Amino acid sequence: MKKIFVPPIKSQGIKTKLVEWISSNASEVKYERWVEPFMGTGVVAFNIRPKRALMCDSNPHLINFYKALQDKKITSSLVKKHLTEEGVKLLKSEGEYYYEVRDRFNKNGNPLDFLFLSRSCFNGMMRFNKKGGFNVPFCKKPNRFAQALVTKISNQVGCISQIIDSGNYTFINQDFKDTLKEINSTDLVYSDPPYLGRHVDYFDSWTEEEEILLNNWLETSKAKYILSTWLSNKYRTNDYVFSVWKNCKISTKEHFYHVGAKEDNRNAVYEALLTNFDVKDCISVQNMRSRIEREESHLTSKQKIYSNKIQQYSLQGL
Ligand SMILES: C[S@@+](CC[C@H](N)C(=O)[O-])C[C@H]1O[C@@H](n2cnc3c(N)ncnc32)[C@H](O)[C@@H]1O
Repeated sequence: MKKIFVPPIKSQGIKTKLVEWISSNASEVKYERWVEPFMGTGVVAFNIRPKRALMCDSNPHLINFYKALQDKKITSSLVKKHLTEEGVKLLKSEGEYYYEVRDRFNKNGNPLDFLFLSRSCFNGMMRFNKKGGFNVPFCKKPNRFAQALVTKISNQVGCISQIIDSGNYTFINQDFKDTLKEINSTDLVYSDPPYLGRHVDYFDSWTEEEEILLNNWLETSKAKYILSTWLSNKYRTNDYVFSVWKNCKISTKEHFYHVGAKEDNRNAVYEALLTNFDVKDCISVQNMRSRIEREESHLTSKQKIYSNKIQQYSLQGL
């Protein structure tokens, strides 16, 4: 794949590292329209670049941002100007100005302020309180909007504008249930719902009932679908894969993340793609379950021999 394009907005659930894998799975089928009921930052579609796409999310700020790009209310030069000017004020106030912008954004929802907050808040997180207000604190860093960063962000905005202009994209702020009502058999639906039990915020909560509903809609739609989820981490497995998604094909990818600085403190998670069509290296969910029960697999569709002790998984709960 070409160089991965990183969108200007950040989020904790962003799939940048999995884009190539999702893209290679998507390339196994023909479809007329790409549909994302949970678009988030949009990184997956913006890299796959389908000709036609329906991009939806329950978070109005994400949709407003991309609609503003599409309508040219936001351009890379406007972003450059805004972040440079606001960055100077932030620097002068020693960070206090961040909270002024946050209050302003929570009153008027300006997409340029959304971008400013996304790029200066703690860990690039996206979190909203019970009233729907953005509530992530400032991430202190000297000269947060240095020239090089402002240029990088405005280039990202320019690149995403081109991608949107080159296709037929529709952005809608709506619940996934409304998006699923619009799908048909020639669509490819990429679903990346919030992970059950992970975190809850105003625009981003998820229940077992919704997971089942999502499955029912996808199954009856006759559309091809790809669903992102996780299969296991060091502590537990995602049992919903074996209950709600039991009729799917599954392919998995091991992903490491670091906790602290030590090399030993690596935690692995198995990301999973569930599909209703065959993709390279997939097996049926039922087959995966049997392999795990027979301890023939370390939760991956390809059998592996592990030497590292941190990869010895607990198979409890299956
Ligand atoms: C895991 S994130 C998607 C991340 C995205 N694939 C990316 O790479 O940036 C899940 C998204 O689902 C949205 N969401 C949560 N509940 C929703 C619902 N009921 N209907 C539509 N979108 C929802 C959240 O706002 C969030 O953007």
